[in-house]
Amino acid sequence: MIEPVDLAELLRGRRSVNFFQPEPVGTEVLLEAIEVARWAPNHRLTEPWRFYVLGDETADAIARCAAELDRSTKGERAAQLRYNRMSAIPGNFVLTSRRAGDEIVDLENYAACCCAVQNLMLYLWQRGIGVKWTTGPVTREQGFYDLVGMDPEAERLVGLFWYGIPKAVPTQKRRAVEEIVIRKP
Ligand SMILES: Cc1cc2nc3c(=O)[nH]c(=O)nc-3n(C[C@H](O)[C@H](O)[C@H](O)COP(=O)(O)O)c2cc1C
Repeated sequence: MIEPVDLAELLRGRRSVNFFQPEPVGTEVLLEAIEVARWAPNHRLTEPWRFYVLGDETADAIARCAAELDRSTKGERAAQLRYNRMSAIPGNFVLTSRRAGDEIVDLENYAACCCAVQNLMLYLWQRGIGVKWTTGPVTREQGFYDLVGMDPEAERLVGLFWYGIPKAVPTQKRRAVEEIVIRKP
């Protein structure tokens, strides 16, 4: 059984990873993490999450799509940098949340997906694998939806996630607890 102190360490120690070792970790461990992720709380038991596990071909097409966006807004050099950066990511997946046609249920579904993401990231972290949650401009493109095979009318994008063995683990900070706690009598 995991000791509370270890859990606190895990929660504090997980970081969003920007740079990864080149070798992919494979989808088996990701599928294990997805199996754990789906035990997240989800109101009405909607299980609103859909995980799109992307292969190299799709990941490369997404990198090209992102580079194309940069080419039109920032120029050729930015496009090249974007492509180089994204094509160096060893593993990619996309998570979507099912739209319910009801604002409250949509929000609950998205919230449940965010809980699932945290489950997944923590599981992978304790296996030595880092994740980065991204919601950059490419994730709002129809071309991206087409490549992933998701229907933006029926699903809301939660994120495009990168995963792999961290090359470096960034440091982070948080505000003091007193700053975020409001005590009421
Ligand atoms: C909904 C959501 C969207 C995010 N999108 C991005 C993103 O597009 N690009 C990025 O660099 N980080 C993104 N992040 C990661 C956050 O920047 C990161 O969690 C934050 O800097 C805190 O770092 P930590 O996760 O290491 O504690 C996103 C995080 C969340 C929760």
